[in-house]
Amino acid sequence: MTRSIGKVLLFLLLLLGAFLWMGQTITAMTGGEKKAASIVEITPEGGESIFWGKGRCFTCHSLGDQGSAVRCPNLGQFGEKFLMPIGERAAERAKERSEETGENYTATDYLVESLAVPSAYVVEGFKDEMAIVYAPPIALNLNEIKAVIAYLQSQGGELDLEAIENPSEISAKYYARIAAATAAGGGDPGAGLEVFDDNCAECHKVQDEGGDVGPDLNAISLKGLKFISESILRPAKKISKGYETWVVVNQEGRRTIGLKTRDTATEIDITKDNGEVVTISKADIKEIAIEEGRSIMPEDLIEAMTVKDFQDVQAYLMMQKGESE
Ligand code: HEC
Ligand code: HEC
Repeated sequence: MTRSIGKVLLFLLLLLGAFLWMGQTITAMTGGEKKAASIVEITPEGGESIFWGKGRCFTCHSLGDQGSAVRCPNLGQFGEKFLMPIGERAAERAKERSEETGENYTATDYLVESLAVPSAYVVEGFKDEMAIVYAPPIALNLNEIKAVIAYLQSQGGELDLEAIENPSEISAKYYARIAAATAAGGGDPGAGLEVFDDNCAECHKVQDEGGDVGPDLNAISLKGLKFISESILRPAKKISKGYETWVVVNQEGRRTIGLKTRDTATEIDITKDNGEVVTISKADIKEIAIEEGRSIMPEDLIEAMTVKDFQDVQAYLMMQKGESE
């Protein structure tokens, strides 16, 4: 009797061991552990591995006599042109940026800015050709960028992890930009603004600029990326309230299609997709109805865009939180 209980217990123990072993193996196989190891630490060492690896900074920049790239600013102390390494140089650049903008830049703010919006300050003698390192193909995430900043600070400057982790107002704005871009699948919001101007601004306003055929998109990020993405891919799937498509047929049988933008006792205004406003007298209306499942927003916008355009414009819209710049 006791012997058989002992056997059962032993069997159960073996079974438990087998399960634990299988669990471990599966985690290892599915990369669960590898993933944990690839989260970069926000330290100069973490940043160093990004600089000379995934960040591909070394393909354009050398650091003192390390590296062989020559076409972009050397980030170490080098020759006549770069008397200070980037950590120290950043403090000088911050002074220039404070004077230019009237805002109070710290050295950390300058470094954050140089990665978030490289064209805000273009180093003298170089072209505005710095990569957007948080957009494809490099696509660093915010933590990787913070680590790189720690590394740059450690090059002759003051390592200030506190300022990296608790960003100033200036840096916080840039962090939000990078986070929005990575959340949107890694688009470049700067390029997204151009895509927006070319394809969307005739109908939509952002920051008080643009047309008013469609809804104001100034706070559109609050509706989330999925909503934005679907609105572009399938505009008619969910029509925004007040933007229904009306079809009006007059006594002669002529059809006018658009948004009803004015409605008085005697006449209505229909705004067409090209922004043209047609006034129709109520006496002249034979039929008037909302056409379900149809949007004034073109269905084929996506065809005129590359995948990159689509990602970029989404990244740009994910930055629109309803605040003015
Ligand atoms: C495609 C080439 C390219 C890549 C990749 C690149 N950069 Fe740059 N970078 C430039 C150019 C060109 C400039 C000078 C123009 C400017 O200031 O925007 C520059 C400027 C800078 C500056 C300002 C230097 C100064 O003297 O003030 C910093 C800092 C910087 N890059 C850091 C980085 C880091 C960190 C990475 C990697 C995560 C990186 N760059 C990747 C081309 C590149
Ligand atoms: C010809 C005018 C027109 C153009 C061009 C246009 N839209 Fe629209 N858009 C509209 C109208 C009208 C609506 C509201 C009807 C609907 O929901 O489909 C709308 C709705 C939207 C919405 C949902 C807004 C909300 O708050 O409900 C988003 C997001 C949007 N458009 C993004 C874009 C983007 C991005 C582009 C450019 C790639 C673009 N639109 C181009 C007219 C336009």
